[in-house]
Amino acid sequence: MTKSEKIRELSKQGKTVEEIHSVVGGSVSYIYKIRSETGKKDQGVFETALQRKIKKLSRSYTVSEIAEKVGCSRQYVHKVVKNQNHKILPFIEKYSEQDEYYTPLYAIIPIEKYLKRHSVIWCPFDTEESLFVRYFRMMGHSVSFSHIDLGQDFFEAEPPICDYIISNPPYSKKTEVFERLNELGLPYAMLVGSAGLFAAKARFDVFKDGIEQMNFSSRVGYMTDYGSGEIQAHPPFESCYICKGVLPSQLVFEELDKTKITL
Ligand SMILES: C[S@@+](CC[C@H](N)C(=O)[O-])C[C@H]1O[C@@H](n2cnc3c(N)ncnc32)[C@H](O)[C@@H]1O
Repeated sequence: MTKSEKIRELSKQGKTVEEIHSVVGGSVSYIYKIRSETGKKDQGVFETALQRKIKKLSRSYTVSEIAEKVGCSRQYVHKVVKNQNHKILPFIEKYSEQDEYYTPLYAIIPIEKYLKRHSVIWCPFDTEESLFVRYFRMMGHSVSFSHIDLGQDFFEAEPPICDYIISNPPYSKKTEVFERLNELGLPYAMLVGSAGLFAAKARFDVFKDGIEQMNFSSRVGYMTDYGSGEIQAHPPFESCYICKGVLPSQLVFEELDKTKITL
């Protein structure tokens, strides 16, 4: 039985979120989401207690630290503390919900095979949970990561010495990301939505000196929670990698094995 099936089953038996969490563990917000699909809308005392805990922790910890401490997603922490006036705010200002989509393994495998063996990679929009970080390490690469929730802003960061910069960047800052990558002048591969990618004048200017593109056999779905191991978002557009100095030709086509979601 998958995790979501187990949550549905326990919800139908009338178990509270707290009771389900004690059985299946993992992310509390994910349990709420699946449980509400079964028509159980009552949030119960647990959420209030959890929210209180998150608000208290947010006076002294970052989003990632809080999520780890209470066992919920970073997205949920953001939701709870959004309107509060304290230390977490500098990170929140840079947060956009449409950016919180996480890449499944099957969309990372196709780019890895084009990398030099034992290369040094910087994943600048990633935490330790990211499958880019985990899979590249598993394949013998040396990987460093950084993320806005850890107080590391890609646009201000000095890149570490590396062979490649690889990630799925925030969609809301696509043009700025490619402008900054051009300035840095290092080989890169960025997984982005291809709809309208070449329509903007600003991006024409950053791409015109030469890029490579990897297209897939089908659409990439994304996770909204690393812990779930399931695809929760199915965007109505194709994704592709836009690369520089990574692929052997300007256009590459790759099959996706959608059974491989997580490690
Ligand atoms: C589309 S998500 C992809 C996350 C991860 N790379 C993956 O594929 O699983 C982009 C991430 O970049 C983060 N982010 C947004 N602005 C950022 C910035 N200026 N610097 C670093 N990270 C940022 C977002 O919070 C979000 O988690």
